[in-house]
Amino acid sequence: MRHLYWGPRLPRVEDLVAGEIWPLSSNDLAEDLTPEEYPIHGGFRYGETCLSVRFPDGSREVRAVVDGMAVEDEGVVVALRDGRGVGVELHYWVLPELDLIERWAVVANTGEEPLAVAEAASAGLHISRRNLILHNVAGHWAAEQQGFTQRIGPGKVVLEARRGISTHHHNPYVVLDDDATENTGDVWFAALAWSGNFRAVVEQRQFADTRVILGWNPWDSEITLAPRDRLTTPTVVAGYSDAGLAAMSHRLHDYGNALLDPRPRPVLYNSWEATEFAVDLDGQLELARRAARIGVELFVIDDGWFGRRDSIDDGLGDWWVSPGKFPDGLTPLIDHVRGLGMEFGIWLEPEMVSPASDLYAAHPDWIYRDPGVAPDTARGQYVLDLTRADVQAHLFEVLDRLLTENDIAYLKWDANRPMSAVGVDRDVQRRHIAAVYDLVGRLKAAHPGILVEACASGGGRIDFGALRVFDDVWTSDNTDAADRLVIQRGYSLVYPAKAMRSWITDVPNFLTQRSIPLDFRARVAMCGSLGIGSDLSTCDDGELESLAAHVATFLRLRPVIHDGRQFRLGDPNDDYRFVGYVSRDARHAVLFAFLLPGRLGQRSPHVRLSGLDPDTVYDFTINGVADRRSGTWLAHHGVDVWLQGDYASALVEFTAVD
Ligand code: GLA
Repeated sequence: MRHLYWGPRLPRVEDLVAGEIWPLSSNDLAEDLTPEEYPIHGGFRYGETCLSVRFPDGSREVRAVVDGMAVEDEGVVVALRDGRGVGVELHYWVLPELDLIERWAVVANTGEEPLAVAEAASAGLHISRRNLILHNVAGHWAAEQQGFTQRIGPGKVVLEARRGISTHHHNPYVVLDDDATENTGDVWFAALAWSGNFRAVVEQRQFADTRVILGWNPWDSEITLAPRDRLTTPTVVAGYSDAGLAAMSHRLHDYGNALLDPRPRPVLYNSWEATEFAVDLDGQLELARRAARIGVELFVIDDGWFGRRDSIDDGLGDWWVSPGKFPDGLTPLIDHVRGLGMEFGIWLEPEMVSPASDLYAAHPDWIYRDPGVAPDTARGQYVLDLTRADVQAHLFEVLDRLLTENDIAYLKWDANRPMSAVGVDRDVQRRHIAAVYDLVGRLKAAHPGILVEACASGGGRIDFGALRVFDDVWTSDNTDAADRLVIQRGYSLVYPAKAMRSWITDVPNFLTQRSIPLDFRARVAMCGSLGIGSDLSTCDDGELESLAAHVATFLRLRPVIHDGRQFRLGDPNDDYRFVGYVSRDARHAVLFAFLLPGRLGQRSPHVRLSGLDPDTVYDFTINGVADRRSGTWLAHHGVDVWLQGDYASALVEFTAVD
């Protein structure tokens, strides 16, 4: 099935003509030249494909023909069929308000014997240009989401995850531009809603175009489809912007926000950096008292509250309250937190088990195991085999009971190691993620109203698949505010601020040993979904008052930051860094300005604002000086936010004059 066009809306449908494709030579035949919507392995196809199967007789050649098409509401389904026992449905679902298309595929075994599926991507996409610029992120634990660009030349670039999570390393999307900027130029983009192993291929072909394939990673995978079974791939959401990267981000942010629970994200306190594993009732009571004093809405107890968990080496899997640390269970703490007017949240790592745990002692066969080698630990833990029905049933029962017996409004769902040596079944990594989605979905259905945060050693599980079931993501274990500016900018390319948890934490930062002033740390944290991770028990009255003032500011600005439009402003390589948020009616805007340690005493650059109404006049105050300018002035001349001193910062509000 031939792809014809991807770009701005066409003025006439008659432009879509599927002319003949002539072979270039006996080495470049029409099949290979054709930009196909879903290339399937076989024949003269030598480029990357979306689907490859092995029939029961060992044949891997598929000759699929179009076998019908159905148009329903905003969707189109095209059916392809090979009479030897494989059918494919290509689903297209148009989201007109967002100007996006969702695509996914369903592969069916229409034969009488099992069908081996070696690869089943979600979508193939074509852009009729070459030498495009690829955007994605690169990094590792505590250094996620570092945006990079790379010009695509002949050949291909593959971004992927093999660790069983969508990873800290790359993210499951492809953004390609043709010399675009934030506000101008052509951008094509596609993101995969999947939180596990993925593969994104960008292939510049010899035939003057670029092919993108996005889907599950076929690496070390083979899916067996029983007769009459159907395999539905994850969704890809794709779009095109003729107005640069910001317009793309806004549509993807809207898409992400539409997946999320619509309630505002509460300002939370999390005790991890303050206590690590040393949690106990008295300490938590005191932290809660102080958290309430500074305006926190949700108090979250992190790791260490359960089983015999005193370090990373023990306790995972034993989701019963530690009697040593909480002799009367969690009720006294939860009652205290609720009495202070806050909601209560709790940390869990349900997919894991420690070798030193009751659960592992009772069920050593419940982990992924290769028959030939001893299982590996990482962070002292194993991965539970979530593809097993008994493991799924156990986890549901235990977590359901925890939520039933305790007044819990929020779960932080962690996963702190990659999968490895998973055994002989080459389809467990995919089924593991499906089981996680299912489990979270069932817990949310049984306990309506709970919010669940996705965490995988920080930002290892950030993707649209996660945003479909989770409500928040922990962006990174790196809470250094200067590093966070980089991480949060990378994150913002695709994902919305509402689900980006960012905490104010203590200095020197535990990771970087950098000491950044509180105002800077607080303003960076306000650019997402604000949390506090400081050890409040050591804060004096002045520090608590400052924190309370920042929380109050955030609560006032939260609707603009979470429901407005976010703009990446300025040059990300300058000493000055800027982030802007504008309300949907453009009557209120917030500009965050940050100064990193100056290299050359850089003068304040004019920062030009985006998203304001050109004809509206705005009041604002910078460095104590009140000013008033039109949206046109602010967009085309900009303002100077003069900052002095390493890690100086400012928050400037723009309010429309009636
Ligand atoms: C991971 C998370 C942290 C914290 C610890 C607890 O590293 O990313 O935020 O919850 O686990 O062990």
